[in-house]
Amino acid sequence: MSLSFSDLFDTDAPLVALSPMAGFSNPAFRAICHGMGCDYAPTELTSARSIVYNGVAKSYRFMAIDPEHEGVTAIQLFGNDPEDFTEAMKIICDDDRLRDVDVFDINMGCPVPRVVKTGAGSALMKTPDIACDIVNKARRTAESLGKVLTVKTRTGFDGDDHSGPEFAYMLARSGAQAICVHGRTARQMYSGNADWQTIGKMREKTEGTGVYFFANGDVTDGPSARKILDVTGADGVMIGRAACGNPWLFSEVKEYLANGTKNISRNITVEQKCDMLLRELDGRAELIGEKMAVLEMRSVMPRYIKGFPGASALKVSLCRANTKEQIRQILNNCLKGNDYEY
Ligand SMILES: Cc1cc2nc3c(=O)[nH]c(=O)nc-3n(C[C@H](O)[C@H](O)[C@H](O)COP(=O)(O)O)c2cc1C
Repeated sequence: MSLSFSDLFDTDAPLVALSPMAGFSNPAFRAICHGMGCDYAPTELTSARSIVYNGVAKSYRFMAIDPEHEGVTAIQLFGNDPEDFTEAMKIICDDDRLRDVDVFDINMGCPVPRVVKTGAGSALMKTPDIACDIVNKARRTAESLGKVLTVKTRTGFDGDDHSGPEFAYMLARSGAQAICVHGRTARQMYSGNADWQTIGKMREKTEGTGVYFFANGDVTDGPSARKILDVTGADGVMIGRAACGNPWLFSEVKEYLANGTKNISRNITVEQKCDMLLRELDGRAELIGEKMAVLEMRSVMPRYIKGFPGASALKVSLCRANTKEQIRQILNNCLKGNDYEY
């Protein structure tokens, strides 16, 4: 008997996961989310081919995992060649720091032209034979390595593409043990509303295959998490953008799903938000060094300070900072009600 996706989690409750997000899903943030109740959080996408050509060194920072602090771990790979995935998975499992990873997730949803033009990411929805060949071979490799194989995809490539349900079914039949569907087409990127009805149709089509099904797109709080699960019939939910700078969301959603109530005592203070921002900054700096961490945090910090009094001036100041100490100073000034300059 091979390991199933559900075997990794000791719960019958719906899993509440952090959706993989390039620039956001680093180990520090994933560990923070795990501490807030997030069950599962794959890494951002990494090129399988780059691993085959360069080994893990070049892309290690995108694949770094921390099983002790994030629970079940998953590395997401993208590519177009089945051999690249199987080779990359073996190379990853030969690395002391990465070999304990539990899950390999294949990206079949990325709409970014740089990825799509190589036939990878969401382009695989247009070549279902290649997609299935990838899943089939990757599953066999995953199994031989004692790992689980999953896929993340979208509802279709564009508005004329109604093959979502059939595509999901083919992925499940080819060996995907969990599928996450973001309810938008690749053409939509992130525009419009997520189409939960089509996610539901994809879920329905995979009924009986044993695949674990995640619904994803536009979940922002407990009620929307409940609703996406009800509308789609999915087993679990993945949350992306709404969790950035707001890891407390996981405890809110978990509580709502368990008790149907909103945690009314949940009132996150400005101090708590500043502390969390600094914690993520420190965690990132440990992995990639202070300079890079400060640069990367420029897209993250505005999420934490959203809604602060004078947030736009604070954002400008934070994004000019070059060191952790400067960021700490700016936040201290903000907490003391002083000017945001450092
Ligand atoms: C900045 C950003 C980066 C993303 N990077 C990835 C990625 O590396 N892999 C992936 O499968 N999806 C990626 N996504 C898509 C998200 O995982 C998710 O499917 C999408 O944001 C919809 O969920 P949401 O409405 O909860 O944000 C990314 C999304 C954003 C906004």
